Amino acid sequence: MKTRIILPDTDGISEAGAILRSGGLVAFPTETVYGLGANALDTVATKRIYEAKGRPSDNPMIVHVASIDMLNGVASGVTDAQKAIMSKLWPGPITFVLHKNPAVPDVTTGGLDTVAVRWPSRREAAEIIVAAGVPIAAPSANLSGKPSPTTFEDVAEDMDGRIDAIVKGEQTVIGIESTVLDLTSDVPTILRPGFITKSRIEEVVGGEVKYDPSLFQKPDSDDFHPKSPGMKYKHYAPKADVKIVEGDKAAVHEAIAKLSAEAVARGIKTAVLDYEGKGDEAAVRYFANLRQLDRDGVDVIYIASYDWDEVGFSVMNRMVKSAGYDILEV
Ligand code: TXA
Ligand code: MG
Repeated sequence: MKTRIILPDTDGISEAGAILRSGGLVAFPTETVYGLGANALDTVATKRIYEAKGRPSDNPMIVHVASIDMLNGVASGVTDAQKAIMSKLWPGPITFVLHKNPAVPDVTTGGLDTVAVRWPSRREAAEIIVAAGVPIAAPSANLSGKPSPTTFEDVAEDMDGRIDAIVKGEQTVIGIESTVLDLTSDVPTILRPGFITKSRIEEVVGGEVKYDPSLFQKPDSDDFHPKSPGMKYKHYAPKADVKIVEGDKAAVHEAIAKLSAEAVARGIKTAVLDYEGKGDEAAVRYFANLRQLDRDGVDVIYIASYDWDEVGFSVMNRMVKSAGYDILEV
């Protein structure tokens, strides 16, 4: 299949909308990462997403909307309390899990009776959804298991020849995927941490917010039952081995210097990622850095982990998975 490259000008946006409406697959930038979109109500189109990504079909997709009308078409029984929370955080990098509207096919939600919905704030994404006129199912536009794409080049690397079109925009500004917040449980529960943090959500909710306990467990532990099916799969893995070195700043630097020197002496090509605990910066650069280090042929990546701020916790959630839970405490 020849993949068209579309620019996000007026003509490009309406072309992207038309392809989506007629059942095609289009990758486009959002504020978090690039998404791979299809008409969320079209069973054949959404099945093609799983094929293009090589994604397990029990892993549900986020449905992207650009109006309250569209939200009402995919969710059901949305309460005023839920609407009040959503209106304070949307459009933006947060996804809400709600009760599903029967109009949404099972392929989109992986057979769950809930649906994950997001209203993105990035101009191109919102305009494409409006142009399509239908809600858009869009997982991250990477091959399953690889780091999410934050640049046009990253999307092209994984998806060229596999999908109908890629909308070519600038690098994404947030860099990690949206926070996923379950609003169907008694206490709102964070299923995937993101740029919108727990304390920000607590401010908006005006009450308690929980983390899904599985965020603190290894997938091989007996009581690991994440509510977000996606959290159980291998994720964010570059070709290189990733090792996290965690502790006090000075100790981390000392340990990485020693490990790197030993590796280099054995002819292993190493790199170090050190964001100095700054979560926002780490979020923007992490996935792009992983992909670049793969292109550079690096064998082992050491991540310096210390003094993380709140968004840092969300980035660490991805880093731990990239590392396959290989964490050295120093
Ligand atoms: O920022 C983002 O969220 C990006 C952009 C493109 O919007 N999308 C994205 O989609 O990250 P994806 O498919 O890579 O991740 C969706 C996550 C998965 O972990 C999935 O299991 C979870 O959301 N999810 C989807 N529907 C769910 C549901 N009904 N209940 C619980 N978790 C759900
Ligand atoms: Mg993904």
